[in-house]
Amino acid sequence: MIARSQPGYEDLLRGELARLGAATTESAPGWLRVLHTGDNPPSDLCFAHRLLLNPAEIYAITVNGLAQDLLNFFLETSRDERFDAPWPCLFEAAAVDGLARRAATVDGVFLAQLKKRLSRVARLAVPVVPGTPARVRGFFVFFTDFGRAFVAREILLNGQRRMADDPLAPSRSYLKIEEAFNLLGRAPAPGETVIDLGAAPGGWSYAAAKRGAKVAAIDNGPLKGGALGHPAITHLREDAFAHRPRQAADWLLCDLVEEPHHVLENIVRPWLENRWCRRFVVNLKFGRVDPLALLDTLRAPGGVLGKRAPGTRIRHLHHDREELTLAGELPPA
Ligand SMILES: C[S@@+](CC[C@H](N)C(=O)[O-])C[C@H]1O[C@@H](n2cnc3c(N)ncnc32)[C@H](O)[C@@H]1O
Repeated sequence: MIARSQPGYEDLLRGELARLGAATTESAPGWLRVLHTGDNPPSDLCFAHRLLLNPAEIYAITVNGLAQDLLNFFLETSRDERFDAPWPCLFEAAAVDGLARRAATVDGVFLAQLKKRLSRVARLAVPVVPGTPARVRGFFVFFTDFGRAFVAREILLNGQRRMADDPLAPSRSYLKIEEAFNLLGRAPAPGETVIDLGAAPGGWSYAAAKRGAKVAAIDNGPLKGGALGHPAITHLREDAFAHRPRQAADWLLCDLVEEPHHVLENIVRPWLENRWCRRFVVNLKFGRVDPLALLDTLRAPGGVLGKRAPGTRIRHLHHDREELTLAGELPPA
């Protein structure tokens, strides 16, 4: 299996996999080769963005050679397959200078050759996968070098993806909340109430307000950009840890630069135990804390998430740096 992370976070992914008993046999920026075959890959990993399942390894020197080997693999593995609808065909590359261009060139030649053999099938190929967590069948190529690629017919997507920016968004944090809404498969709806703890300069508040939600933005710092003066945002200069909602909110958003266990014990726990929100997105900064030990705490079945919001997705997002994001909802009372 090939497990892909954000470049620079592969050691954390390796540690996460090791805790599950999966050994890594090769490691490079942004990806790991993991000893795992079969049909039950580890799911719900935090640091893995995607897993190529049961990949084959291809070596060739030229673009044509690579494309030909990939075509052979496709033809061999699709003999009994029907293609009645668009199917994902994705050529990606590791973080190596010029490799993405190489992948794109091989992609073009592969598709041209496929068109000659199976033109209807080739015409249904699309270079997209779902943005939300999913296990998908298609054709997935990942270049690790100019003459080497892994290719798989199945991929497990964990829901991370690059989001589009908004010129009115006051901070790059805006991209994180957009990604978290995507991960959860839900976003604040018109008329819903949102409490945003640690809101300034207002990227998260703005993301909720632009969807028509009513936002209380809690922060001593100033709001900026599209959040400043937004009619749906009320700015309260209060301490996030002391703030108590007058009535339960639809959403808790929390993006405090504070020690993660402190946030977990003094915000996540009371908010979930008292059901002060129905849904939540909380970003935790690792700081000097061991991220893997933090993950163990977050995943403990007897912990606050395990007890109050067991389906919570814990992810290192595409837009996260030294932080991870929790996105979840409470089951009905
Ligand atoms: C990373 S920024 C939040 C960025 C915000 N999510 C956005 O999209 O623009 C963290 C914020 O937490 C605020 N903060 C830290 N501790 C706080 C506390 N105890 N109460 C309220 N705000 C706090 C800081 O003032 C800072 O504005």
